[in-house]
Amino acid sequence: MLEKIIGILNGGGDAPGLNAVIRAVTTKAINTGYGVIGFEDGWRGLLDKNFSELSLADIEDIHLLGGTILGSSRINVAKVENGFEIAKKNLEEIGIYALVAVGGDDTLGVALKLHKLGVNVVGVPKTIDNDVNGTDYTFGFDTAINRVCDFLEKLRTTTESHHRVMVVEIMGRHAGWIALHGGMAGGAHMIIIPEKEVSVQDVCAMVKRRYESGKKWAIIAVAEGAIIPDIMKDVAHSSKLDDYGHVQLGTGKGIADALANAVEYETGYETRSIVLGHLQRGGTPSAYDRVLCTRLGVHVVQMIEDGKFGMMSAIRAGGMKAVPLEEAVGTLKTVDTERYDIAKLFFS
Ligand code: F6P
Repeated sequence: MLEKIIGILNGGGDAPGLNAVIRAVTTKAINTGYGVIGFEDGWRGLLDKNFSELSLADIEDIHLLGGTILGSSRINVAKVENGFEIAKKNLEEIGIYALVAVGGDDTLGVALKLHKLGVNVVGVPKTIDNDVNGTDYTFGFDTAINRVCDFLEKLRTTTESHHRVMVVEIMGRHAGWIALHGGMAGGAHMIIIPEKEVSVQDVCAMVKRRYESGKKWAIIAVAEGAIIPDIMKDVAHSSKLDDYGHVQLGTGKGIADALANAVEYETGYETRSIVLGHLQRGGTPSAYDRVLCTRLGVHVVQMIEDGKFGMMSAIRAGGMKAVPLEEAVGTLKTVDTERYDIAKLFFS
């Protein structure tokens, strides 16, 4: 191995584009004179010293592939006894000069703590949810909204043919970006997101208006983390919590199912629900995400060269920018009223 080694890991839910980041980091790093190793399954690989060297042959053309060749997990270093000490010691023993942590709020939060302990860490923001602060977009989001748009278009024909109401559950635990953009692009008649509470009556009023005007079908896009107070008692998510304390959504009886039952009961119109689930983040990345990830990966290695540790690579107004991890973690980037109001104008 070469003298200076860059380690890379990705934590949390996979997002289309992860392989493109791994390819870009590896290519730029090797071309700059570094060796590269990849840790398997996120922080788990670092804690267990489970890693392998990445060569140019290993990463050839992987930007075309979904998922991540490194595997991922939601292991939280903070939940492991002496986790941060073990992680730091392992990095020293392996001889890592700098660590690239690719992930959302949780993974970047661990990265920041490690940086505060003196580790050379840089981040790349990742999540289909697009809810990381400090960057205009996170990779994976574009692919996810294209998927949602495609599924909504498919659902339109069958929903209209059967004069039904279709309630479509879309990923987004705290932020409704996927439902908002996917729903706007895919022609949802109403979009419900965690940031904006609605009532069952609001939803039924829209449905009734449509049916009474002769358009006897409707598509409702609802984010999995949306709050509709009248029916929350009917929502029964899995009782499993991940290492970061998040409830597993999209399993059990989710918001779409509860809303569909309530809409059918209140309006008398046949109403079905569907959970898009992991179809939103599985499969190959969009062209936009492949290019964004390539830019992020190359930029983050340049940040290492420039000694910009404790920062993440971000896209801001079209350009690449090093942003302090502090800006990214702790508070999520949620949908503001102005953005929601644009979509609302088209609810009908
Ligand atoms: O954070 C990305 C995400 O896809 C969320 O939208 C969703 O709530 C969560 O991950 C699902 O995670 P898992 O696959 O671990 O259930």
